[in-house]
Amino acid sequence: MREITTAGEIRTATAEARCAGRSIGLVPTMGSLHAGHLALAAAARGENDLAVMSLYVNPTQFGPNEDFERYPRDLGNDRRLAADAGVDILFAPAPEVMYPSGAAAQRVWVDPGSLAAHLCGASRPGHFRGVATVVAKLFHLVSPDRAYFGQKDGQQAAIIQRMTRDLAFPTEIRVLPTVRESDGLALSSRNVYLSPEERAQAPALSAALRWAGERVAHGDRDPRTLEAGMRALILERAPLARIDYVTVAEAESLQPASAPIGDALIALAAYLGTTRLIDNVMVRFDGGTLRVT
Ligand code: PAJ
Repeated sequence: MREITTAGEIRTATAEARCAGRSIGLVPTMGSLHAGHLALAAAARGENDLAVMSLYVNPTQFGPNEDFERYPRDLGNDRRLAADAGVDILFAPAPEVMYPSGAAAQRVWVDPGSLAAHLCGASRPGHFRGVATVVAKLFHLVSPDRAYFGQKDGQQAAIIQRMTRDLAFPTEIRVLPTVRESDGLALSSRNVYLSPEERAQAPALSAALRWAGERVAHGDRDPRTLEAGMRALILERAPLARIDYVTVAEAESLQPASAPIGDALIALAAYLGTTRLIDNVMVRFDGGTLRVT
């Protein structure tokens, strides 16, 4: 595995691959890799000739009181895991590569507009602007044929898909299913912050989403009833949880869904102690067949 830190080198390496007719897959990450990231890397490896993983903790997607400083960083371990997953190039840019004048001096942004108005966007102002902007930069540096994202961050995946379409990036966005612990908890780099008591209660979040998926399968189409049921389940099974939001959103617009729901992103966020966890399921009515993922 080759490690690259500069803009010039990553442009040259990917341009050479492209000239040789090789396809390029990109997996953007903030490091602290776990099996969720590695599933994306495996897909990029399998579907492309060159698998690139970026590793960069992007300051502009963290709010002033969020965990940018204490976000887990372990380059040594990440390097080993990425190499084992078959990553050809680990792109770990220096801060000045991504923000030439410093992050505070960024003036031109990719604005996801109303797609960031609800769900995580409501409680993390500026977060998705930071995400969309840094992913656009990564796309320009790497020019991938395919880029890989996890359903775990459902709003992020929807925003990146829309950005790619609206800004005419020549990249196919692949969204892969959420990888979970055996008790249902979605893998996250932030799970390491949880105390044993918080960790024990955390599966209530995915249980609430599974419950909602089952209700939809049984014909329940009222978003407010689904939201209230999920809240009740979380409060009962995870008394330590402080719910940020539980929302049934319309899949395309990410606005709160009205009854009866169609394709929808059922998403939630909750604090366990100081740790903010997110999870979601997507329900799709494909020609009358319901799919819950
Ligand atoms: P990060 O949180 O490191 O996640 C990198 C990618 O891994 C994202 O696409 C995320 O959805 C995916 N992922 C995380 N946990 C997952 C799980 N349990 N199952 C499947 N996929 C999972 O998301 C970011 O970084 C950043 O916002 C980034 C896109 C890199 C921009 O800075």
